[in-house]
Amino acid sequence: MKRVSPCIVITMICSIVFTFSCVSSKKNLTSVPAEAKYRNASLPVEERVNDLMSYMTLDEKVAQMAQAVVYVASPADAKSYGLGSILVGGGDHPGSGLKAKDWLNFYNEYQKAAMQTRLGIPILFGVDAVHGNAKIEGATVFPHNIGLGATNDAALVEKIGRITAIESRAAGLHWNFAPCVAVARDERWGRTYESFSESPDIVSALGIAYVHGLENGNRAAQNSMAACVKHYFADGGAEWGSGPHGIDRGNSTLSDEDVRKIHLAPYVAALKEKPASVMISFSGIGGEEMHGNKKWIDVLKQELKFNGIIISDWAGHKELKGENLFAQSINAGMDMIMIPEEYPDFVVDVPQNVKDGIITKERIDEAVRRILRVKFEMGLFEKALADESQLNTVGCDEHMDVAREAVRKSLVLLKNENTALPLLKTEKVAIVGTKAKDMGVLCGGWTLYWGGYSEYEPLVAQLEQNSRRVKSSGLAVKGKNILEAFTATAGASVLYSDDGSAIDGAKKAIVVIGEVPYAEFFGDLKDLSVSKADVDKIKKLKAQGISVIAVIVSGRPMIISEIEADCDAIVAAWLPGSMAGPGIADVLYGDYDFSGKLSFTWPKDMAQLPINVGDGKEGLYPFGYGLRYKQ
Ligand code: BGC
Ligand code: BGC
Repeated sequence: MKRVSPCIVITMICSIVFTFSCVSSKKNLTSVPAEAKYRNASLPVEERVNDLMSYMTLDEKVAQMAQAVVYVASPADAKSYGLGSILVGGGDHPGSGLKAKDWLNFYNEYQKAAMQTRLGIPILFGVDAVHGNAKIEGATVFPHNIGLGATNDAALVEKIGRITAIESRAAGLHWNFAPCVAVARDERWGRTYESFSESPDIVSALGIAYVHGLENGNRAAQNSMAACVKHYFADGGAEWGSGPHGIDRGNSTLSDEDVRKIHLAPYVAALKEKPASVMISFSGIGGEEMHGNKKWIDVLKQELKFNGIIISDWAGHKELKGENLFAQSINAGMDMIMIPEEYPDFVVDVPQNVKDGIITKERIDEAVRRILRVKFEMGLFEKALADESQLNTVGCDEHMDVAREAVRKSLVLLKNENTALPLLKTEKVAIVGTKAKDMGVLCGGWTLYWGGYSEYEPLVAQLEQNSRRVKSSGLAVKGKNILEAFTATAGASVLYSDDGSAIDGAKKAIVVIGEVPYAEFFGDLKDLSVSKADVDKIKKLKAQGISVIAVIVSGRPMIISEIEADCDAIVAAWLPGSMAGPGIADVLYGDYDFSGKLSFTWPKDMAQLPINVGDGKEGLYPFGYGLRYKQ
C-alpha cells in the first residue's frame, strides 16, 4: 500500500473540516426559522433581542453598528452590506425640498432593501429635524431653539416636538437628531441658536419637554419619532480659540464639578424621558475628545443608566488621533458610528479589530443589543414601511398655528420708547430691509439645506450655492414673511423699502436687521456687531425724524451699541421660521402682548464675552429681561 504522506492527510482533513464548516455556516446562515422568536411581537423585547443575536454573525453585528449617508449608500448597498442605519444629513441630499410623499417612497426603498437581508432587520433612518422638519417641502418650520428658550414654555416645546414627530413620520422619517441640549455659554459659537439657553435650568426643562413631545412615551406609536439628545457633552462650553474656527469642535477646560453642573445637567434631566439615543459631541473636555472619551461615556451608561443607542457625530471618529479610529470610538462606548461615507472600510476593519483582539466581542454585543432594542421598541420589525395615511398633516393649519404661537411667545421686547409700539393698523408704517421678505433668513440654518439659504443676501461661499439653488428651482419654505403678514394685517398702510428711502409719509419704520444663515463652524464669529448696512439704514431713517423699530433676526444676541440710541423700539425675533410674519404682526400690532424673556445675557460689547447669568458682569440687557406693553 502506498504510504500517504502526513502532509496530505492533514491537508485532506483540513479541507474536509473547511468544507464542512462552510456548509454548516451556510446552513446556519439560511436556517432562521420563519417562526423564530425574534419575529414574535408578543415576546418581551429582551427575549427577541437575545434570539436575533443568536443568529447573527460577527459581520452582521458590525454592519448593524454602521450608519451610512444616503448620497453614498443606495438601498442596494443597505441590503448588500446589511447596514443598520442610514442618515440623511443636513446637506442637499437626497434633494432638498422633497415632498413628503417622495420622502416616504425614498425611505421605503431602504426599508424594503433591509427586509430582503437574511435576517430582515429593519433600518433606522436618521434626519435633522431640528426646528420642525425643514427638509420636507411644505413642512412647518418652528423657531430655532434660542427662540423657544425665550418662550421658556415647556408645554409649547412639547407640542412642537409632537408636531415635528407627526410631520416627519408622515414622510416615513422616524429618528430625529434632536433635541440639542447644548448650554451655549459663549455666543460667538455658530451653534448658539441650537441652544435653548445659557442656563442649564431652561435647557433641562425644555429638553425634557422636547423628548417627550417626540417620543410621546411610546416609541412604537406610528406618530412618534425616536429622539437623539445631542451633543454629549459640553459642546456649548468650548472656549473661543480651542476649535479650528473658534469654538465649534473645540474644548472645554471646566472642572469636573462645573462641567457637570452646567453641561451634564440637561442630560440628567432629558434621560429621565428615556430617549432612544444620545449623540456624542465633536468637542472635547480637558483636552480629551469626546469621541474617545470613555470616562464621560461611562458616566452616561453607568451612572445615568442610559441603555439606548450612543451614536457618534458625522465622521466624529476622525477627531481622534492615532490608529484604528473606529475601534477607539467603539471602545470608548459608541454603539453606532455615523461613518458616514466609508462604511465599506468599517465593515472590514471592525471585524478584523475583533479578530485581532482590539475590540472585544462583548463590546460589539453590547452595542448591537442597544441598537436592536430600539428597533424592536419602535415596532419596526412589525411595520417597517411607512404608509401615506398621514401625509395631509404636513404643514397643516393647526400646526402652523402652533408655529405662530411660538413666534409670538419667543419675541423679546428690549426697548420701547415714544409709544413706538404697538402699531395702529391705520397708521402708515414702512417695512425696511430685504430680511423682512426673506424666508431663508427668517428660518436660519438647517432649513432645506444644512446652512440654510437667503433669497437676497450673500452667505459664506460654501453655503451660497444653496441660495442659488433655491432661486433657480423655485423652492420655498411654506409660511409668511414679515412684509406679507404686515400687509395682510394693515393693508395699504404698509409700505416697503429695501434701504429706507422713498417711504412716503410713514412716521414709523420696522427695520429688519440681523444675521444671514449659517450652520455649525460657519457661524463661529469673533465680531457679532450689526452690519454697517443695517446701521446706515437705521441712522438714515432716524435723521429723517422717523420712529425706528428694529426687529433683529439672528441666531444670538448681537452687539447693537451703534444703533441702540437711534432705535425707539428694539425687538429680538431670533430665527422665527414659517410663521415669522404672522407671529411678529400679532404682537407688534398689539393683538397679543410680549411675553418672551432673554434666555441669554445680551452683551454690551465683544469684550464682555463670554458673559453669563451669575458671573457678575453687567450686560446691556440681563438674562431674563423682556418688556411688556402692560407691566
Ligand atoms: C452634512 C451635514 C453635516 C456636515 C458635517 C454636511 O455635508 O450634510 O449633515 O452635519 O456635513 O460637516
Ligand atoms: C452635526 C449634528 C448632526 C449631524 C448629522 C453633524 O455635523 O454636528 O448636529 O446631527 O451632522 O447631520
